[in-house]
Amino acid sequence: MRIRGGTIITPQGRREADLVVEGETIAAVEQPAPGAAGPDDVNAAGLWVLPGGVDPHTHFGMPLGGGLASLGWRESSLAALLGGTTTVIDFANPERGESLPAAVARRRTMADPAVLCDYGLHCTITDPDPDRLAEIPGLVGAGVSSFKGFLAYPGRLMLEPQEMEAVMRAVKAAGGLLLVHAEDGHRNAAAERILLNTGRIAPHWHPLAHPAESELEAVSTALELAARTGCPLEIVHASLSASIDRIAAARDDRSGDAPPPLAEVCLHHLFAEEGLYEQGHEAALAAICSPPLRATPNGAELLARLADGRIDFLATDHCEFDLKTKTAAASGGFPKVPNGCGGVGERLVVSHTLAVVPGILTPERWVEVTSERPAALLGLGDRKGRLEPGYDADVVLFDPREEYRWRPAPGSDALGSLWAGLPVTGRVRDVWLRGLRAVESGRPATGLAPGRFQARSLPRERSR
Ligand code: URP
Ligand code: ZN
Ligand code: ZN
Repeated sequence: MRIRGGTIITPQGRREADLVVEGETIAAVEQPAPGAAGPDDVNAAGLWVLPGGVDPHTHFGMPLGGGLASLGWRESSLAALLGGTTTVIDFANPERGESLPAAVARRRTMADPAVLCDYGLHCTITDPDPDRLAEIPGLVGAGVSSFKGFLAYPGRLMLEPQEMEAVMRAVKAAGGLLLVHAEDGHRNAAAERILLNTGRIAPHWHPLAHPAESELEAVSTALELAARTGCPLEIVHASLSASIDRIAAARDDRSGDAPPPLAEVCLHHLFAEEGLYEQGHEAALAAICSPPLRATPNGAELLARLADGRIDFLATDHCEFDLKTKTAAASGGFPKVPNGCGGVGERLVVSHTLAVVPGILTPERWVEVTSERPAALLGLGDRKGRLEPGYDADVVLFDPREEYRWRPAPGSDALGSLWAGLPVTGRVRDVWLRGLRAVESGRPATGLAPGRFQARSLPRERSR
């Protein structure tokens, strides 16, 4: 197949070229071929040719107990493909007493029969028991090379700082990367107790139980522990520009032997803001996620840091619940509402509309933060995130001019969405996953092939 005459966008620049695909991989990127198109050729004139998006932080079909789970693997991975994302990195979450390999195996049993995009897994660590930590090298060897620890949610997921330090030492020794959810769980719990004791249980109180100081404190804790242990660190879903400034300062301080910490930001923290909590019960419910949406002009400040390189990549933390589910849970007070927002289907189009069209991100930087960087930094850089010979033929044809109102993917609940109805510019027209057509003229292709698990080994400079 030859994708002819499009504008290929990469972090290094843009050029008119043909992309030649053979089987599952890219065979060549060539000067536009003269002459008539062949039967397998695709006309991309006037369109951008992008590497498939890589979303490094999703929660597809995440079980929360009591039969509750976020939107499943099939619907969520279809939304990803329709939105131009061909690879996600999701999470295996061990249950109490469960071994890490068993949790990964269980997660793959859920994902493999349903998933339509390629996927990798991070593994959450909530138990610092030495037996659990001893399982980390085996997972790294099996391609689950990144782990997540929580400084939030005491009694459920949280690691105390000395436990986090033990986890960091184990992850470093195994050559892994530790993702940290940086909110101070004790501080959040104290704020939540005050709210509940004074009857403030409606959804719009949620952000007050997640104060900015809590995130800043936890970011500092994670950075200090990483500097002490030398563990490669990524702060996930950093929601405050001041968090990014702390991470950037740690990155500039090269006195220790830890690799520079990574910073991830999520779509909703860039483009949706705290005011949503005051726009009625349903809007507040849809916006319940942690860390919460923050006050203006924090989103614009984050965007500036994404543009200038202080933030490494743009993820979604996609964890979608329909409004009915959130509404039913809300009768028990805001702490009972499952946390999370969608975004995997929206990431490219919404960020194109609100960051590329106004000239804040160049198209090249946009491709870098939505595909090339997450792939390279999280261990997929040998096959994903680039349009180069030998790379997987994960390709998106994007029309940067089309204007319309955003409609969430089939299976998503528009009422629970932060983005439904948003006027957007830019449409994902066609998508190939490893050379197979996944989206055709904006619709799911017929006979979608299953996605594949992707084992990841981190780039050597990050796991030293
Ligand atoms: O609200 C959120 N972020 N839900 C997903 C779980 C997490 O902490 O990333
Ligand atoms: Zn988190
Ligand atoms: Zn998450």
